[in-house]
Amino acid sequence: MKRLVSGIKPTGNIHLGNYLGAIKNWVELQKEYECFFFIADLHALTIEIDPRDLKQQTHELIIDLLALGINPKKTTFFRQSDIIGHAELGWIFNCLMPVAELSRMTQFKDESQKNINNINAGLLTYPSLQAADILIYKGDVVPVGKDQLQHLELTRIAARKFNNRYKRYFPEIKPILSPAQRLMSLNNSKKKMSKSLGPASYIAIRDDEETVTHKIKKAVTDEAGVKNLLELYSYFGKKSKHQKMEKAHAAGKLMNSELKEELTLEILKFLKPIQIKIANYETQPLKIDKIIKNGAKKAQKIADKNLAEIKKIIGF
Ligand code: TRP
Repeated sequence: MKRLVSGIKPTGNIHLGNYLGAIKNWVELQKEYECFFFIADLHALTIEIDPRDLKQQTHELIIDLLALGINPKKTTFFRQSDIIGHAELGWIFNCLMPVAELSRMTQFKDESQKNINNINAGLLTYPSLQAADILIYKGDVVPVGKDQLQHLELTRIAARKFNNRYKRYFPEIKPILSPAQRLMSLNNSKKKMSKSLGPASYIAIRDDEETVTHKIKKAVTDEAGVKNLLELYSYFGKKSKHQKMEKAHAAGKLMNSELKEELTLEILKFLKPIQIKIANYETQPLKIDKIIKNGAKKAQKIADKNLAEIKKIIGF
């Protein structure tokens, strides 16, 4: 079985864009691969974050991922910061990674611009740590969004440089792109659904009925907006109904109010069992603790073994 590694930052409020763009795919990939999924809390430090928020968001993300179908019995599910070795291998990769490549990264440039008072070194060397996340487990495949392809290219560069300088040790990783198209914001059909555009832009997994209804009611209905709502419907609704609405839309006869009502219904239907699971997990903090400690134990075993080999190779 090939090994798969991926991580997600605890930035709060998992929304349908995250679900369709990444997590749904993760859940399915669990059947085919030996999976390592982690909360990238070390990466979260590159943007200033209140410690209480970091703790709360990590807790909620763990629960959301479990409720959405990450299965800790099949998958190694853990927190990045629990594993000794990611940061250490990240340092080793820092000493191989060309600064010119790091400073070319779109995410580095975007985040620097957004956080003009906090352009820290972690923001620049972010891809070295990401390479370490993957290669410490000698991962073969990495499911990510399109925006992460650049970083994965640097993972390949890190592996190649290491293999050339020392000896052939790391595999060539392959990205897996999620089949889901990218979802647009509800309040701006030209921008990707994202937290940075505010809560009206997205439907969070934890949104209650009233909030979901209100957000969809307010969603923009320009040409791209309607297309986006139809696409959303295609993921959550009935196939026959979707085809009917697509046809009506093409004929210029689709009522936006009907589309919105149907979509609201289907999304609420999707969210209900997930929210019941979330509420259930929220009453069992000890169980959550146990799951995540157990994941760390499994991951640490492999990280320890590989890091020991890596250290030997480089002459420590
Ligand atoms: N950088 C990724 C993102 O922002 C998160 C991440 C961290 C990751 N380490 C990883 C993804 C390793 C895949 C593999 O989405």
